Amino acid sequence: VAIAALLTGTGLAVAPAAAPAVPHDHGPGEARSVGEPTRRFTLTAGTATVRVSGRDVAAWAFDGQVPGPELTAAVGDVLEVTLRNRDIARGVTLHWHGYDVPNSQDGVPGITQAAVLPGQEFVYRFRADQAGTYWYHTHAVSDLGVRMGLYGVLVVRPAPVTGVDVTVPVHTLSGRPLPEPRTEPVGAGTPVRLRLINTDSTTHRYALAGTPFRVAAIDGADLRGPASIVDTAVLIPAGGRYDLVFAAPATPVALFVDGRAVYSTGPVSTATGGWPVLDPLGYGARAPVPWSRFDRTFTLVLDRGLDLHGLLPRYAHTVNGAADPDIPPQVVRFGDTVEFTIVNRSQSVHPWHLHGHHVLVLSRDGRPATGSPLWLDSFDVRPGEVWRVAFRADNPGMWANHCHNLAHADAGMTLHLMYS
Ligand code: C2O
Ligand code: CU
Repeated sequence: VAIAALLTGTGLAVAPAAAPAVPHDHGPGEARSVGEPTRRFTLTAGTATVRVSGRDVAAWAFDGQVPGPELTAAVGDVLEVTLRNRDIARGVTLHWHGYDVPNSQDGVPGITQAAVLPGQEFVYRFRADQAGTYWYHTHAVSDLGVRMGLYGVLVVRPAPVTGVDVTVPVHTLSGRPLPEPRTEPVGAGTPVRLRLINTDSTTHRYALAGTPFRVAAIDGADLRGPASIVDTAVLIPAGGRYDLVFAAPATPVALFVDGRAVYSTGPVSTATGGWPVLDPLGYGARAPVPWSRFDRTFTLVLDRGLDLHGLLPRYAHTVNGAADPDIPPQVVRFGDTVEFTIVNRSQSVHPWHLHGHHVLVLSRDGRPATGSPLWLDSFDVRPGEVWRVAFRADNPGMWANHCHNLAHADAGMTLHLMYS
């Protein structure tokens, strides 16, 4: 989309691509002790009434608020989060979306733990070894649970912050958009980092008006992207995060989500609707790949079809013609390099999400990824698209691999990655 215009028209500069480092590596025994907790939180899940756009909405909430409390840590902290369930009858867990925690802490009921029922609790512990923007959400009846409000932000910062560093989680609750718009004046020259988090089940379009900016990170992984872009929108898939950075100009700046201002430093009126969209894997030189061969390759064909396995036939979102729980697991061994290809033969967008690992994008529709190495945990596979991605099997366990349109995940589009 209009990348040529971007390249010529907006002073876009591309940082030189260096060899990509695998962002984190886990030892096979990492699930053992992580040391004494240095940051402790307690989250209590319960039914609640929250106010959205001036109306009372019935919700499920952590500590009575949607989103739940923002959990922050510094790199090197050991987090201990106690989850309590007051009265959510269907049960609750905490999944650390995008955080590659040891398997036992991943929060998937029936796979890594039992759902926490009313009156029960579960303690999560993991080391904050990845800086960046993440989020947490329940993985029990996840479509309903997240839609009702059981989610929040997790931010791990590398060092003391200078300037403004704010999170903007986007969600719809009972059809009403969150967050409420907020305006905070910022002094000219102040460095600003906006951490955009799409906690919804569909793609949103974000447009930052009034300043050139840089995309500093996607899905918590630093990006060597265009040094400066302007009047350009970004599309964030369900579950995905983008960090935008800029120095505050003397005039106001505003962030629009689907045309609605959600964060501003003063009054701004700009039509952002016609802006081109940044393609994070479509600029610059070919992105380097650290592996020359793969120990395992898998293909996942996404489609819609009749699932005849249950008591009643149902219309399901399918992977290779089958629906959860009938999709065979992807089996790997510790240390394997793994490639998987995702082909979308359906009419809907499928935001793909692998737990426990970030994947490096190799190509889309046969075109190799260009620009910065792109390590993602959530990416939109649009109708007709073919994505090739790869990762190192460095985090043993049994991991969900699913569509993050959570209604699709619940209607069949979930499989598992298993270490033999
Ligand atoms: Cu954000 Cu399996 O989930
Ligand atoms: Cu889907």
